[in-house]
Amino acid sequence: MIYLKSRSEIEMMRKSGKIVAKAIRECYEAIVPGKTTTRDLDALAERIIKEAGAVPSFMNYRGYSANTCISVNDVVIHGMPTDDPIMEGDIVDIDIGACLDGWHADSAWTFGIGKISPEAQRLLNVTKESLMQGIAQAKVGNRIGDISAAVQKYVEKNGYGVVRDLVGHGIGRKLHEEPHSVPNFGKAGKGEVLREGCTICIEPMVNEGTYRVKTLEDGWTVKTADGKLSAHFEHTIAITKDGPELLTLE
Ligand code: MF3
Ligand code: CO
Repeated sequence: MIYLKSRSEIEMMRKSGKIVAKAIRECYEAIVPGKTTTRDLDALAERIIKEAGAVPSFMNYRGYSANTCISVNDVVIHGMPTDDPIMEGDIVDIDIGACLDGWHADSAWTFGIGKISPEAQRLLNVTKESLMQGIAQAKVGNRIGDISAAVQKYVEKNGYGVVRDLVGHGIGRKLHEEPHSVPNFGKAGKGEVLREGCTICIEPMVNEGTYRVKTLEDGWTVKTADGKLSAHFEHTIAITKDGPELLTLE
């Protein structure tokens, strides 16, 4: 059963979402190329979330042992903190979740650090726009497959691969709840019907090359199978009678 949120519950999730958006922005702004590590950013995000009175959603989630997922270049998702400095020209996915008063929000944004290649910039632009294409389908009466198909169509039209092995999800009292899968590929008109008060995360992961990915021995870090770049954008969305509302904005 998909739990449908009331207006006041959606507003609670928006409060969590504002904290997430602020943490992502402040992490990005803190990056000094050649110096800042993803471990530094993980500590910064923890501080920002806790100072706002919230709890990092990812810590201890199914055994995950960090506050953030920060995924650099060919890391697709679930990058764990490391001591390697972020470098000029990297693309860095900062994925953060926060829980305030029992309500979760989850968002991710991929940033170019300093001057990046035109190819990398195009990947970021297309991935971000694929999320927007998906969000535009998050309307009362549509189905999950309408979101999935819109994302896939836009990504593939632009010559990229959309990751199959990881998907978006319902969110609310839990980081991951029903609907358990909001895929970034699939058929329009299929899947669960979207109703007012349904809150979901849409999170396309888009690869420059093959959509295939591999998980490292740590059980978390997911990389592209071919070593090419990958980008990831995510928002927490509420489906309302007035259309999709983005809850992870400042
Ligand atoms: N945004 C990702 C997701 O929704 C991050 C989860 S990381 C985890 O699945 F550690 F919490 F699993
Ligand atoms: Co998510």
